Amino acid sequence: MSTFARASVKQGFLDDLYGRIARRYDLVNYVQSLGMVGLMRRDAAAFVGRGVVLDAGAGSGDLAAVCLGAGASRVVCLDRSPEMFRVARAKLASYERAGRVRFVLGDVARMPFRDGAVDNVGSAFLFRNIPATDAAVGEMRRVLKAGGRVVVADVFAPPKGLTGAVYRIYLNVMVPLWGRLIAREGVAYRYLSASIQNCFSAAELAGRLAAAGFADVRAEPKFFGIAYVVKGRSP
Ligand SMILES: C[S@@+](CC[C@H](N)C(=O)[O-])C[C@H]1O[C@@H](n2cnc3c(N)ncnc32)[C@H](O)[C@@H]1O
Repeated sequence: MSTFARASVKQGFLDDLYGRIARRYDLVNYVQSLGMVGLMRRDAAAFVGRGVVLDAGAGSGDLAAVCLGAGASRVVCLDRSPEMFRVARAKLASYERAGRVRFVLGDVARMPFRDGAVDNVGSAFLFRNIPATDAAVGEMRRVLKAGGRVVVADVFAPPKGLTGAVYRIYLNVMVPLWGRLIAREGVAYRYLSASIQNCFSAAELAGRLAAAGFADVRAEPKFFGIAYVVKGRSP
């Protein structure tokens, strides 16, 4: 676990990792989360899927797709990984409203957008990975219009008690196993498992959003507290 201590993980390591697992990312993600990821994205999209939506750390484009389905007029996908975008483009090409999605290669900690550029902003399964959490939160606040909504869907540090104990076993044994069997990337999935166990709590992220100036911030637990959808708005 110490190999992947949160403070020691560098952006270059993450870029390389997502480049390698991009092609199999969707399948492994779905299998190892037992379908939970889809439900969380739907919850997030129901909250922010209106007007122009920024999908921060959009990856293979699933949150963007659900936001379009929920009624967003346009979605801007921001991510550092060209490989993840290749998967997203191929997937979204068959969507009737694919022309409403724009792909921007860039960093969530230094977004290439003007202040107040988007109506709503969302991210799914981004935050526990990135080294520059506060910079990313600050950028989300900066590019969001007054009155706009923010949502962060993710898995955070495991809960305490029996649920947490069982979950840790699943993370340590099954997640790397799925990764090795489906994506042939056991090490990458050991990192992803460690990134959950080394993560801050949803309450801490909610505090950081509030400290950055977001209002009405609340962390809604999902699946016995394994995952959270954190919601707020720009005052
Ligand atoms: C676990 S994937 C989540 C993808 C997608 N949001 C989803 O719902 O499946 C994390 C994504 O964040 C991206 N990422 C990591 N660090 C980033 C950064 N600093 N700026 C932008 N994207 C980043 C990765 O390239 C990857 O596509």
